[in-house]
Amino acid sequence: MTSLLRPDGPAKLTGTATYAADAQVPDVLYAALVTATVPNGRVVAVDKPDTPGVVAVIDHTNVGTLTQLPSPPLGHSMIPLQTTEVHYDGQPVAVVLAETLEQAQHAATLVSVTYSDTSPPPIFGQTAQIAPGSGLFKAPTDKKGDVDAGLASADKTVHGTYTTADRHHSPIEPSATIAWWEGDQLTVHTSTQSSQLAQTALAGLFQIPREHVRVVCAYVGGGFGSKGYVWPHLILAAAAAKVSGRAVKLVMTRAQMFSLAGHQPITSQTVTLGATADGKLTAIRHLSVNAAARVDAFVESTTGATTWLYDSPNIETDLKVEALDKPQPTPMRAPAEGPGLFPLESAMDELAVELGIDPVELRMRNDASVDPLTGKPFSSRKLVECLTEGAARFGWADREPHMRDGDWQIGWGMAVATFGAYRAPSAARVRVDSDGHVVVESDMQEIGSGLPAMVQIIAAETLGCDPSDVEVRHGDSSYPPHTGTFGSLSSGSLSAAVQNAASSVMEKLQAQPGDSLADLVDAAGLEFVESEGSWAPDQGGEDYSIKSFGAVFAEVRVDADLGLVRVPRIVGVYSAGRIINQVAAHSQMTGGIIWGYGQALLERSVMEPRLGRFLSRNLAGYVVPVNADIGDIDVSFVEEDDRIASPSGARGIGELGACGVGPAIANAVFHATGRRVRSLPIRIHDLL
Ligand code: MOS
Repeated sequence: MTSLLRPDGPAKLTGTATYAADAQVPDVLYAALVTATVPNGRVVAVDKPDTPGVVAVIDHTNVGTLTQLPSPPLGHSMIPLQTTEVHYDGQPVAVVLAETLEQAQHAATLVSVTYSDTSPPPIFGQTAQIAPGSGLFKAPTDKKGDVDAGLASADKTVHGTYTTADRHHSPIEPSATIAWWEGDQLTVHTSTQSSQLAQTALAGLFQIPREHVRVVCAYVGGGFGSKGYVWPHLILAAAAAKVSGRAVKLVMTRAQMFSLAGHQPITSQTVTLGATADGKLTAIRHLSVNAAARVDAFVESTTGATTWLYDSPNIETDLKVEALDKPQPTPMRAPAEGPGLFPLESAMDELAVELGIDPVELRMRNDASVDPLTGKPFSSRKLVECLTEGAARFGWADREPHMRDGDWQIGWGMAVATFGAYRAPSAARVRVDSDGHVVVESDMQEIGSGLPAMVQIIAAETLGCDPSDVEVRHGDSSYPPHTGTFGSLSSGSLSAAVQNAASSVMEKLQAQPGDSLADLVDAAGLEFVESEGSWAPDQGGEDYSIKSFGAVFAEVRVDADLGLVRVPRIVGVYSAGRIINQVAAHSQMTGGIIWGYGQALLERSVMEPRLGRFLSRNLAGYVVPVNADIGDIDVSFVEEDDRIASPSGARGIGELGACGVGPAIANAVFHATGRRVRSLPIRIHDLL
């Protein structure tokens, strides 16, 4: 098993790693956004101040025409400043450009915008307004068998409606862009999870060839999905640079991150389960509706896991979207399964209680040998091993019906984790120099997950060299393309591309494992040998259901008088394919579990019900876990090597860790208190 420390560590620790806003560009203009203070209606007039240092105020009258594009690649398909329509509070209505940041920010506060009446009256969708079945848009329904018949034949049924909150990604590095034009060549330094999507979007918006757009982004200070798609700030920075003829730097404020980079939307989900007395599922129904902006029907695909997790002859899922006068949601770690597993795994816990069957045993009895909906075999599925190993590590066998330590009610709960193993095209170039130095180039970002070390390991094992011989260059759209640092897809897809590129170098050199590549390059009279390699999902695995799995066990302590919840320990065991770098994988899952703790107990963006404005606009108002919240976290992986999912054997890991934690904690809270809380986050008043 390999454990390799990140090569990017020293640069980050010493502050020499450059993030988007760090790029030093001469003659740069500073931009400040003016954003809508109403949730709908129209911009009637923009009154532009004339204060020192202001070079231009750009609004719908002078921004120029941009070409309409869909979402994705855009975060939402409404391109800023192209119409006077307002779709949500916080939408950009003007950009101030000035010689200094202070001048731009000051002038932005003096821009006076007149709006038409907000009519029709806006709707912001409190959870009650998005009851299942009320959605305007409809995603396809998945259906197998006859759920009503399955429920009729069941000995026990459970039924409940669950809600999850609006949540914001809140990366430490806010989104930022520096853009400039040289003729019709556009260069941007931007904080993004996909230079490729940014490049595609900018080329389309400005109608220039893709190769005329260069996107630079080596490091990202956290994204969690908020930097996956292209949001208005990138478009506005590029447009403002074009209008002004200068380089433009636009850094989002923390407050703007709450409306201009997406969020995870509130969901309301109903799950109904039926089972025989010995715990075999006869029916599963999962209906879900999420809130989205009017601009686009963003679907939070919460019901996916329900179609592949448990064996049942009858399954029905349905997704709806409610269009509201709110900012647009976007995927947030972990999208879909993150909010979707809360109702399913809570309902499984309720069913276990109803049946008097241990919750771990109930999952084992319903493990699926093939994908229940599609009938496809799994590429590899070691959920039962995760359950067994997790129960052993946690000491689940010692669980008692009632456990207490003084004022603390103790609860042990568990849930299954699962995440779709996304795969996407990826490419890399590998070069071996005559002195043995190896360079790998790929347009991926280091977002904290440790991809450069992963690339070093794969290149080194394929070339038969030491990982420290491998230099990884990344984060420039001029390198071979990698789809994006999202969807937990990079370990599986980028590893395969690097492996293919390195194998191709070995072939060119006619090298055998163990040969000195430096000697072979030298003997050929060359300075270097290089090859490009790529990989795409159509190279294999289409006939399989490819998912990752895990089992999460949590201990909670609930203060019987105060309703405080503490989580002293969590055990997570995962089936995620081959683990390429133990130390990075362990770190990813630990972070994921902490993220899940936030979903379970803390994170909730409050919407002002009259204004349609998120009130939580800073990290004091949006509560995330801190060190003092976090107890012992025990992460491990079952042995696995999934060569169907990827030629490297990896399925990808990041977002799997954020799955299953919410319901495991909620189930533990039930075990401790007898209270079934069906709304996340669980708050003190839920337990008083
Ligand atoms: Mo993740 S929501 O795909 O960054």
